[in-house]
Amino acid sequence: MIEAKGNDLMERIVSLCKRKGLVFQSSEIYGGINGFWDYGPLGVELKRNIKDYWWRAMTQKRDDVAGLDATIIMHPKIWEASGHTTTFADPMVDCLLTKKRFRADQIDPQSGMVYKYDGAESKESGFKIERHFEVIIEKDKHPEYARKVARQFYALTSNDKNLTLLGETTEEVQNSTRFNSENGGLLTEPRLFNLMFKTYVGPVESDENVAYLRPETAQAIFAQFKNVAEVARQKVPFGVCQIGKAFRNEINPRNFTFRSREFEQMELEFFIRPDEAVEAICGEVAKPQGPGHPGEPQANWGWQMWHQYWVEERLSFYESIGLPRASLVEYWQKPEELAHYARATVDILYKFPFSKRDEKGELAGEELEGVAARSDFDLSQHQRSSGKSMTVFDEELKAAWGKLDEGKKPALAARYQEARRKYLVKTGETAENADRQAARDAVGLANGYYVPHVIEPSAGVDRLALALICNAYAEDEAPDEKGKMEKRVLMRFHPRVAPWKVAVFPLLKNRPELVRKALEIRDLLRPLMAVFYDDTGAIGRRYRRQDEAGTPFGVTVDFDTLGEKGLDLKDTVTLRERDTMKQIRVKIEQLPALLLEKIR
Ligand code: GAP
Repeated sequence: MIEAKGNDLMERIVSLCKRKGLVFQSSEIYGGINGFWDYGPLGVELKRNIKDYWWRAMTQKRDDVAGLDATIIMHPKIWEASGHTTTFADPMVDCLLTKKRFRADQIDPQSGMVYKYDGAESKESGFKIERHFEVIIEKDKHPEYARKVARQFYALTSNDKNLTLLGETTEEVQNSTRFNSENGGLLTEPRLFNLMFKTYVGPVESDENVAYLRPETAQAIFAQFKNVAEVARQKVPFGVCQIGKAFRNEINPRNFTFRSREFEQMELEFFIRPDEAVEAICGEVAKPQGPGHPGEPQANWGWQMWHQYWVEERLSFYESIGLPRASLVEYWQKPEELAHYARATVDILYKFPFSKRDEKGELAGEELEGVAARSDFDLSQHQRSSGKSMTVFDEELKAAWGKLDEGKKPALAARYQEARRKYLVKTGETAENADRQAARDAVGLANGYYVPHVIEPSAGVDRLALALICNAYAEDEAPDEKGKMEKRVLMRFHPRVAPWKVAVFPLLKNRPELVRKALEIRDLLRPLMAVFYDDTGAIGRRYRRQDEAGTPFGVTVDFDTLGEKGLDLKDTVTLRERDTMKQIRVKIEQLPALLLEKIR
């Protein structure tokens, strides 16, 4: 294999994405629009396969998960309850010189000499600007570098390029994030910027008609929780999942499709009993005993076991579509990184070529998915905000509570009451209200009622597509028509997600009997999988085209298929495997079963 690293590899991947129709820049004919991407003929198949496979794994193959498809625009109160209108913001800074905007937490630290100025004046006109500005340059660089940048800044306000700088002083700094690494110019102080896209519902653009494009699919699941639970006839623990578009007005979209402004999410909200309910029913709450998959779900699992279960399920999912375990990182967020409602969050990272490297030089990885234990925060928030109950009645809990030891009842109730009180105080309730409400909630628990807690595995379709593309890209050598070795680019997609599963080729286009047979095979396979038929060009070229498209199998109809070289090979074809380029002879009638086994 030919090795390419980092940016160089990314450039080759981006170029292949365009060449093969995986990803195009949105609105390209108008110069593109930053943070928006289109998927071409191959990309759309890849994405569809990812979503179908996720949907099958997360809902159709399980008894305890139901699906939902909600609208993108929802009642604006949803985003108040979830906290998005107030807290879904990133700190941003602007370059004072170029006006370019950056996320404050993504500024590269710089060390060097800072040149500070009080302003500038024009000797000719007497025009004077009294405004502070700073520039950082490397310690051993000539001060003129800094002065040039400063003059450019003051020239923006005066249109005079020959200004004299005023009050120059210097200071040496280490790891400062106050400067634009592209030009050394000073950045503004960080300000919070809400990432939700705003729009208006109806013809009047007034405050009452403001609505938002959803920044995540999760909130619709919480808002529809009661409806789904009822119609799906599910009892906690159970989940609701959804795939759909989400929109975030990212300050700095970057790394190809990795951080986009429009993207798709695949989210599961898995509702579980609070630990106090589990303890009342089972007498104990099982806790993780070490790393690894904890096995089939058990009634005595508390939130930590469920959290570990979903982290491991999701890691297995990624492996099952071809991302090697070694390319994934399980990152446990530190307490100070956790969202205010989260008890624990594991980010599943993929080692993208553009990922930063750690101290050992290893790729650190970038987030593919977050698996968060979100307590009962979300449903409680919607309960408070909408005034509609989000509690469930748990018959088993009610029956178990009646049989509980008299000493245990107050202890469990007190624990639950304290957890509810803490939540209510955090959301701004007065101490008195919180005490009263939490006491009512504890009485509810004793009668079998509670607001379910939730574990949320939340993944991005586009990020996964990009990870699969990066993982699939490979270069090796293969013989050309004359047997001379030449470079081969191939996409080693796992057959489960490969855009096309099989390509069918007649050896020669001008032999009707070969073409007829190849079309028959195409039509035999087409109801079962995505088939690409190709009869143009030399067979070697056709193989190369499919290698680049990531098609895992190629079927060639030749003269043996027609029985021209003996009856024993009649109705057999050559089946070529993309990665090894190995070819075997297979009976046509065996093809469907053989291929289905590999792609399912
Ligand atoms: N409901 C929880 C939630 O939305 P998140 O970590 O903000 O959590 C979940 O997003 C996933 O959505 C991420 O792990 C990522 O895969 C995807 N995602 C988030 N922002 C994205 C963006 N700007 N572009 C592409 N994918 C994004």
